Amino acid sequence: MGDKAHWEKIYTSKAPDQVSWYQVQPQLSLDLIRRTGVDKPAQIIDVGGGASALVDHLLADGFEHVSVLDISSTALAVAKSRLGPQANDVTWIDANITQAQLPPAHYDVWHDRAVFHFLTDPEDRRKYVEVATRAIKPGGHVIIASFATDGPMQCSGLDVMRYSPTALHHEFGEDFELIESHDETHNTPFGTQQKFVYCYCRKL
Ligand SMILES: C[S@@+](CC[C@H](N)C(=O)[O-])C[C@H]1O[C@@H](n2cnc3c(N)ncnc32)[C@H](O)[C@@H]1O
Repeated sequence: MGDKAHWEKIYTSKAPDQVSWYQVQPQLSLDLIRRTGVDKPAQIIDVGGGASALVDHLLADGFEHVSVLDISSTALAVAKSRLGPQANDVTWIDANITQAQLPPAHYDVWHDRAVFHFLTDPEDRRKYVEVATRAIKPGGHVIIASFATDGPMQCSGLDVMRYSPTALHHEFGEDFELIESHDETHNTPFGTQQKFVYCYCRKL
């Protein structure tokens, strides 16, 4: 999975727009979050949000309770610094998602782009799903993006899992209903392409 030291090194040695997962605008994530129809006071968490600009866009949309969780405090510091005083409107959680202590039945929207696929150990995936199942409200929305079956086999020097929509949903189990899935070809800052799959599920 790569430990905290690995991710701290990445974020201290590379500019935020010089990592393969960099997006100027996380359009599909935004579209899916907007289409959940949640109200502005909804509790939204970006799991492994890193230095992503998703939080900037959610704040610009008027969402009032946005949390960003990441194992790298350096990544969170980059996002905080970019946001300036608006960073005070965000809940920042410096934690490993497989061990995070999150409030129960709290989140209306759980978003994860390119984090779950780093969990190559089934026990870590089990712990992630346990944390998510406990923290997401009944009826809550889950938007999770991983490498697709024809996506890369490694990222950031680490092995990754690759998923079909069915297999990704299967990891979450019968507490979650798969509503829809989308393919995306991500153009990296280096001119290469990566195939992603986005699953939108609801917690029953
Ligand atoms: C490929 S990056 C994706 C960042 C962001 N979601 C995006 O789309 O730009 C993976 C992120 O997951 C974080 N991460 C990796 N393992 C994690 C874990 N076990 N718990 C929390 N964050 C983790 C990394 O620090 C990194 O910010």
